[in-house]
Amino acid sequence: MSARVSDPAADGETGAGPFERLLALVEDDLARVTGLIRERMSSEHASRIPEISAHLIEAGGKRLRPILTLAASRLCGYQGSDHIKLATTVEFIHTATLLHDDVVDESGKRRGRATANILWDNKSSVLVGDYLFARAFQLMVETGSLEVLRILSDASAVIAEGEVLQLTTAHDLSTDLARYDQVIRGKTAALFAAATEVGGVISDAEPQKVAALRTYGDGLGMAFQLADDLLDYGGSTAALGKNTGDDFREGKVTLPIILAHARGDQAARDFWTRTIARGKQEPGDLDQALAYLAETDALADARKAARGHADRALAALAQFPEGETRTALEDIAEFVVARAV
Ligand code: IPE
Ligand code: IPE
Ligand code: MG
Ligand code: MG
Repeated sequence: MSARVSDPAADGETGAGPFERLLALVEDDLARVTGLIRERMSSEHASRIPEISAHLIEAGGKRLRPILTLAASRLCGYQGSDHIKLATTVEFIHTATLLHDDVVDESGKRRGRATANILWDNKSSVLVGDYLFARAFQLMVETGSLEVLRILSDASAVIAEGEVLQLTTAHDLSTDLARYDQVIRGKTAALFAAATEVGGVISDAEPQKVAALRTYGDGLGMAFQLADDLLDYGGSTAALGKNTGDDFREGKVTLPIILAHARGDQAARDFWTRTIARGKQEPGDLDQALAYLAETDALADARKAARGHADRALAALAQFPEGETRTALEDIAEFVVARAV
């Protein structure tokens, strides 16, 4: 059984993209993380748990968040082995949120496979997600660090808040930029920030370095989700391994929609009111939405917003010594903005 970790940023024929370069630095550690994931996703008592966990975990995924934990601890010169447990914890939390998120979003595809909610059912997805959350907490307790426990349990609460907040902003065209930022900081950036911060904490890094790692993760996570939201309109299902157009169908008010709605003429505003606010969609509406997004530069400006967060992430790395780890983390900040996968 071999988990395929996607190499999403390979530079065509050379195969060495920024993602792959970061991966190469932590490859051995990541193999240990994969081993620990397999060990801890098992259950002696309910075979559906490893079935569903393996379905999602063995499909690969980028493993970006655990890679960030490993790289952050490497940047701080960590010599122990708790970073393996923490990186595994972070990927378990991420996997649990994906199981829950696909139920909430009624999504049919994840990591190139049919989702667990389609192949099994919503009940199983929710309960296996709960199990993986609990396994994550068991693992982080094993590190014995209350600070790590605080950071990752805070992040878990904030993720759930972000997902719930998003429910209440769906179909609401009065959602402003501040509210949108709050949603994506909660549902996505919180885990990126925790993933990098704990790498510093276990390394006993100085407080300002730990804070810088947190800022780096926050900037990266915000840029990552902004890119994800524009890829839901401009990206490819084959490359992403999940269906595009889902956000439109669900009436999610993401940055491209906020911009296109604010900048549109009366016909455009009536269109967004019908399709997003009232959820009345007809065949051809997604194409019309894409045309309005292009006309108003909404996708290009969402990309610029991602760029701004990535620049913040880059600046936070300045206080770390130059070297291959810092360079690879800098390159990842570029990758999340430009990514198509
Ligand atoms: C998906 O995250 C959820 C979001 C925050 C958009 P990833 O794109 O990192 O998912 P995998 O782990 O690579 O499948
Ligand atoms: C992902 O949110 C965030 C979490 C899983 C907490 P989305 O719903 O925007 O991401 P995808 O498109 O399903 O990966
Ligand atoms: Mg989703
Ligand atoms: Mg969602």
